[in-house]
Amino acid sequence: MKYTSIKEAMSKGKGKVAVRGWIHRERGSNKIKFIVLRDSSQVIQIVFPRDKFEKQWDEIDKLQVEASIIVEGSIKKDKRAPTGYEISASKVEVVGKSDKFPINKDLNEELLGDRRHLWIRSRKMAAIMKIRSTVMQSFRDYFREKGFWEFQGPILILGGAEEGPTLFEVKYFDRKMYLAQTWQLYAEAAMYGLEKIYGIGPTFRAEKSKTSRHLTEFWMAEMEVAWCDLSELIDYAEEMTKYIIKKVLEKHKEELEILERDVKKLIPSTKKKFPRITYDEALKILDKGGMKIKWGKDLRTVEEEKLMEGYDTPVFVTHYPREVMAFYKPKDPKNPRTALCFDMLGPEGNGELIGGSQRDIDIKEMEKALKAKGENLKDYKYYLEISKYGAIPHAGYGLGPERLIKWICGLDNVKDTIGFPRTMTRYYP
Ligand code: 4AD
Ligand code: MG
Repeated sequence: MKYTSIKEAMSKGKGKVAVRGWIHRERGSNKIKFIVLRDSSQVIQIVFPRDKFEKQWDEIDKLQVEASIIVEGSIKKDKRAPTGYEISASKVEVVGKSDKFPINKDLNEELLGDRRHLWIRSRKMAAIMKIRSTVMQSFRDYFREKGFWEFQGPILILGGAEEGPTLFEVKYFDRKMYLAQTWQLYAEAAMYGLEKIYGIGPTFRAEKSKTSRHLTEFWMAEMEVAWCDLSELIDYAEEMTKYIIKKVLEKHKEELEILERDVKKLIPSTKKKFPRITYDEALKILDKGGMKIKWGKDLRTVEEEKLMEGYDTPVFVTHYPREVMAFYKPKDPKNPRTALCFDMLGPEGNGELIGGSQRDIDIKEMEKALKAKGENLKDYKYYLEISKYGAIPHAGYGLGPERLIKWICGLDNVKDTIGFPRTMTRYYP
């Protein structure tokens, strides 16, 4: 017989089917055994009446959660079954027995983390991983449809990019190199050949912060575009975010249900325009809410959360103080103390999801900013050279897919959005 996925068997709805998968739940008596079988598509209840399986009964009776089996039988609708269908088995083969599975409802976060290599097969993790896959693909599709090229930058770099202290050092033969913190600087070089590019790549930051939104290894989804100013850049970010959320809502009704996500909370972000406010305006809103921030300070998590209390969609905060921004964010000619940059903050306490800016092409200004930050100009020699040859206004941003997925799935921690998370204290398995 031809095997199908459980989902396909359910859509067939009646007659003979053959499915294979892992035991999700099992219960029974000495007359009948009920197994809920899981594959990557669905779960389904299967019944084994003892009188049909007398010879194999001992084997069936001993089956434990996560054992893998192949089953043939006939499927029919059954309102009492967990997913509305039931297979009455006529044939079974045990493929892989299972020890007592060391995961149950009572495990705390730490233990689930230690057993991630097993927990990853849970329906919850599988639902998140499917959504993650769609988020990554939709990011690519959006930019492909807009005529962008995918471009990969190096992961081993000589130094320099975002902030020195968060670089991970690597032994590179007899010298030191570092793991990339962003694709951006090399992407800007490539932009001069391709004009519109995007990329998704592993990104490393030695972040000591133990927050629910920092990983030390994550995947940044970035874009860089020629002849673009801040407002057009924000248009891309908004349209892209809506595009990704719509795709997830379209394809993942079931997964969002497994995650018990209240999808109504995502709907405003597919329809409403995302507000755009300046840093100065943000300070005023915070001030009204009883939070006084000294002009010139970057917004911290608590402030971002406070600011977002009044919104049900992401918000763009623009024109942050230039001094606290990366060296490549240019001065706003209309207000040189601020930079032509933005952060997109997510609702429901999700904080910064995207960071982006126009790019400075004034070499002297960038040298000044780099020196002020104590950076070594030598690390940026190639980057500064790019602007000597036909520099043009251009802009780009980086999205943290883990943070976007955390929001979309309604999770408490970015650790659950990636297969095997890495933080300062979590590096196994
Ligand atoms: O704001 P960031 O640091 O921007 C850049 O690195 C730019 N060079 C990107 C660009 O313009 N091409 O990081 C971009 C996004 C953040 O908004 C956040 O969503 C995510 O990357 N991010 C992290 N996600 C998880 N763990 C961390 N430690 C992260 N650091 C940044
Ligand atoms: Mg940022």
